[in-house]
Amino acid sequence: VDVRTGLPVVGMVGGGQLARMTHQAAISLGQSLRVLAESPDDSAALVAADVRIGTHTDLSALREFAKGCEAVTFDHEHVPNEHIATLAAEGVAIYPGAAAIAFAQDKRLMRERLGAMGAPVPRWRTVSSLSDISDFGQDVGWPLVAKATRGGYDGRGVWMLSSPADAVELVESGTELIVEERVPLLRELAALVARSPFGQVAAYPVVETVQRDGICVQVLAPAPELPDALSIAAQQLAIDLANELGVVGLLAVELFETDAGIVVNELAMRPHNSGHWTIEGARTSQFEQHLRAVLDYPMGETSLTAPAVVMANVLGGQPGGISIDERLHHLFAEDPGVRVHLYGKQVRPGRKIGHVTVLGDDMTPVRARAVRAARWLQEGTP
Ligand SMILES: Nc1ncnc2c1ncn2[C@@H]1O[C@H](COP(=O)(O)OP(=O)(O)OP(=O)(O)O)[C@@H](O)[C@H]1O
Ligand SMILES: [Mg+2]
Repeated sequence: VDVRTGLPVVGMVGGGQLARMTHQAAISLGQSLRVLAESPDDSAALVAADVRIGTHTDLSALREFAKGCEAVTFDHEHVPNEHIATLAAEGVAIYPGAAAIAFAQDKRLMRERLGAMGAPVPRWRTVSSLSDISDFGQDVGWPLVAKATRGGYDGRGVWMLSSPADAVELVESGTELIVEERVPLLRELAALVARSPFGQVAAYPVVETVQRDGICVQVLAPAPELPDALSIAAQQLAIDLANELGVVGLLAVELFETDAGIVVNELAMRPHNSGHWTIEGARTSQFEQHLRAVLDYPMGETSLTAPAVVMANVLGGQPGGISIDERLHHLFAEDPGVRVHLYGKQVRPGRKIGHVTVLGDDMTPVRARAVRAARWLQEGTP
């Protein structure tokens, strides 16, 4: 507890934009997020008051960090699972726990567990040699998708393979892999829920996500024209997974919509890009919901604040052109309804440096405004 306020201290391991936006939500709850950052220049370290510098793989740094926290949680899934288990055994309230987060850390474990639970997953297999891939391709047909079991994000760690030749270098690199069928997807969806230690679960409306080069670039809430039956099935699946896996905090279930229904792509157990729209577009943002969940507060309402909400990510563009400050100036002048979130990150081409959110009555114009605003910030021209 913070002795000045009598309110709890939550620690978040990792200082990226998710921690930055969680800090923003913490402020409204009377709190100030404690952040374990790699560097004082990290996105969240630039804004939070209680920043500790350290590495998430260092157990003694984690121990020191956890002292005095009511709950410890994560901005990414790279903390070694055994460290999470050790801290929990030492009495730290660390969420999600080691047993649950394992399924967000390792895609092979996740596929095995989901399959065992009877959840819909793509056909897949583990890879120990090139022939595993070519045999699997024979069985299910090419192209295939190879994935690093651990450590991937934003499409790094995902490779589309059109023949065994495409996999030679990858297999030789020694990366631990699974391979799966390329799902004939109609579109991608995400179901976001939050669960508290008490066992209360709150589900957000199901959204459509649009990825380019493996990076999420747009999120449409609610997913346009999603039949009620599919939407309810996706929410129920996410609720069941959160309960079954004992998740505490947010669980984002990335889904593929196919002709035959929904298929699970992967799980994330933290605030997720598919939920950034909730800052303005839902009664309770995902960041506040995550804090409530790890503190075992009752969950907040998840309903939409407008009929149509679109989030578009701002990626780093090529250097040059007018400054980001000038871009904002022009954008604000042209569309006062656009909400902008910048993460304080150094611009590198393709890196997520911010997002915009637009709310309105009709999805089509709302989407067009969001895409235009993001492109404007990204490229400096409307
Ligand atoms: N089996 C598949 N069939 C078709 N497309 C796929 C498949 N697996 C992945 N993809 C595409 O690649 C994207 C990235 O895959 P995945 O979510 O597994 O990677 P990631 O790098 O862990 O992503 P994230 O950025 O969410 O952490 C998916 O959103 C989807 O567009
Ligand atoms: Mg993904």
